[in-house]
Amino acid sequence: MHLHRYEKIWLMLGTGALALFIVILSVNAFAMGMTPPSHMEMIDPKKVDQTAPFDKPGLKKIGPNEYELVMVSFAFGYQPGNVEVPKGAKVTFITTSKDVVHGFQIPGTNVNTMVLPGHVSKITHTFDEPGKFLILCNEYCGAGHQIMATHVIVK
Ligand code: CUA
Repeated sequence: MHLHRYEKIWLMLGTGALALFIVILSVNAFAMGMTPPSHMEMIDPKKVDQTAPFDKPGLKKIGPNEYELVMVSFAFGYQPGNVEVPKGAKVTFITTSKDVVHGFQIPGTNVNTMVLPGHVSKITHTFDEPGKFLILCNEYCGAGHQIMATHVIVK
């Protein structure tokens, strides 16, 4: 089979680009451990209240100005409600749902995750500015969806 020179060049470029793409993906996945969020932490959604850490929702200090905030998401709210942290606090939100799919978003920040029954969602944010930050549900979850919100107060 005769191939034109330019055709060969294009074939090589195409194959090369594909190979490069696979190499980059493999290095990311296997060498650097970059994978999509995998929801590895599972929980029985019917036993949220009895399962640690959701049996004791609340703020826990884990380091100098570093916190874990365990929150239970349910129709239609978050437990605990308004939470106060000091300015500069690094907060890891740990949440799960007791019933249906909810959202967990703090507008103006990178905090935005789905909250699925049976899964534990974790997301970390550092609050560098004081203020009252809204946490809201951005997944339609029923008749009270629009009132499902709480706040983080940064002082
Ligand atoms: Cu919960 Cu919408």
